[in-house]
Amino acid sequence: MNASTPSPAQNQASTTPLYGGVTNRRVTVRDLAAAKQRGEKWSMLTAYDALTAGVFDEAGIPVLLVGDSAGNCHLGYETTVPVTMDQMVMLSAAVVRGTKRAMIVADLPFGSYQESPAQAMHNAARLMKEAGVGAVKLEGGERSARSIELLVEAGVPVMAHIGLTPQSVHALGGYPVQGRGDEAAHQLLRDAKAVQQSGAFAVVLEAVPAELAAQVTEQLAIPTVGIGGGPDTDAQVLVWTDMAGMTAGRVPKFVKQYADLRTVLGDAARAYAQDVRTGAFPAAEHSFH
Ligand code: KIV
Repeated sequence: MNASTPSPAQNQASTTPLYGGVTNRRVTVRDLAAAKQRGEKWSMLTAYDALTAGVFDEAGIPVLLVGDSAGNCHLGYETTVPVTMDQMVMLSAAVVRGTKRAMIVADLPFGSYQESPAQAMHNAARLMKEAGVGAVKLEGGERSARSIELLVEAGVPVMAHIGLTPQSVHALGGYPVQGRGDEAAHQLLRDAKAVQQSGAFAVVLEAVPAELAAQVTEQLAIPTVGIGGGPDTDAQVLVWTDMAGMTAGRVPKFVKQYADLRTVLGDAARAYAQDVRTGAFPAAEHSFH
């Protein structure tokens, strides 16, 4: 086998469950397609740094998304709109370095793909070459179809994102549920079919009625990844800081909190400060002589 020949492991789509099945290489688009065939549901989490991504990789999360939610969940902006390509490349490279097994998907941020398919290609190539991600995600259904087509033709795996598209927060006037009413539901179905037709390997459905997400999931051959899309999508995604209780203030209705890290970290910081005040830290075992 020479350097350009894929290893047997790279060549095979896993027939075993995504959880624990693929351990000797990264999860691929073929593994996700096979999971849909088997009816295996899978999970995706966002990650923005090497350390946290490593924890999720070891926990067996098969797909990690370097979301442009980094804007509000990691970089301190109010929305995803200000996030730049340079920031996405830096965060994505860290997530790739911190993981061994998960497929890493990176968001194309606002303004990095809407001008033209050529612009989308230029920036997708940056994420793949400079950060080493395995796939990119972009927002929009019919309106992004031409860009998806060009990227897929060029060998870039694309995850689409329809329903509520947070990069349009200013045009939408907030983060309202999408796809309510006949016309909006038909548009969502058209968007879903357009991204599948263009070659996307999966599609995120954000903040849409559960019944509509179920209908889209049934009608598509590619996996649907729900966030606020009810229980019947093929996969689920959550923003990690929401899921782990790091987010300050209110989280959306669709979030389930699996930990209270904000309290745990705050308590640890307060205990440390108290020990420093009282002289309890550092003790003899923390000192050199
Ligand atoms: O940026 C992000 O975190 C996302 C998820 C909400 C799907 O796009």
